[in-house]
Amino acid sequence: MRIGVLTSGGDCPGLNAVIRSVVHRAVVDHGDEVIGFHDGWKGLLECDYRKLDLDAVSGILARGGTILGSSRVQPAHLRGGVERARGHVAELGLDAIIPIGGEGTLKAARLLSDAGLPIVGVPKTIDNDIAVTDVTFGFDTAVGVATEALDRLKTTAESHQRVLIVEVMGRHTGWIALHSGMAAGAHAIVVPERPFDIEELTRVVGERFSMGKKFAIVVVAEGAKPVEGTMKFDVGGKDIYGHERFAGVAQQLSIELEQRLGKEARAVILGHVQRGGTPTAYDRVLATRFGWHAVEAVHRGEFGKMTALHGTEIVMVPLAEAVETLKTVPEARYAEAQTVL
Ligand code: F6P
Repeated sequence: MRIGVLTSGGDCPGLNAVIRSVVHRAVVDHGDEVIGFHDGWKGLLECDYRKLDLDAVSGILARGGTILGSSRVQPAHLRGGVERARGHVAELGLDAIIPIGGEGTLKAARLLSDAGLPIVGVPKTIDNDIAVTDVTFGFDTAVGVATEALDRLKTTAESHQRVLIVEVMGRHTGWIALHSGMAAGAHAIVVPERPFDIEELTRVVGERFSMGKKFAIVVVAEGAKPVEGTMKFDVGGKDIYGHERFAGVAQQLSIELEQRLGKEARAVILGHVQRGGTPTAYDRVLATRFGWHAVEAVHRGEFGKMTALHGTEIVMVPLAEAVETLKTVPEARYAEAQTVL
């Protein structure tokens, strides 16, 4: 068989582990040929690719980023994109494409699958917001990075008796905020699923100081917003792809809390550091399993699906189901994370 693989959307620790696993399983165990498209769907649309053999994937298991490059280009964004993709699949004699990506990539995968292309998806995102898989690889690494940062920030916050508002990634969901906040013992966790009440947040942080504590750490997901009309808030604009461009919730919160509490407050934005670097062992294993099972699905002709983790098993789930909704933080999980001050 001839299989094409690509990585699309924001990068994520573990992408190289999937690519390596696909190549090992396909080439060594099945005698397939694998090619890798450069820069996501763009590579398929422009027929820009390279052959992936064992040498090409040697030593990449622990490497962050993606050796193939990534972009946010989607076939549907370009006139004739779907037809062009179909033409190149035929021209290259591909039996399957394995796109590795998040929400946007999986939507594009579904579109191409509905157009008749042989697709087996692999979900990825540090945000952990893909429905129908218990976990996505990259999340464990991102939570580890954010937790380490929070641990470090606690000591400087304490030295200066400050409130630190730490912004973590999470456009639509607060999984990284929830888990890193719990792991580091943050004093408040703010997630997009639950618009924050500035009065309440001020009360929570203020109470901590009234109890004689010298500092406070607030973790906030980048997509969090206040309850409408309760605080002046700049929501930011759109980027060139029409996605929300955030205006810095941590910065806005730090200004507001400093004024309301009369305590020094600083904003810390962790940003892309959460996406870089080597994946944790957990993420390497999950990514490797996803790659292995994607190749098996290709050989079974099980197209229009993606790999997913259910409990401890890897299963195949229809792409149509996977892109229906996002996996948000349930109220009960949020309630568990409410810390004792
Ligand atoms: O989807 C993962 C994610 O890390 C989001 O949390 C974040 O908003 C986004 O990617 C930012 O990606 P970029 O700056 O690369 O467009």
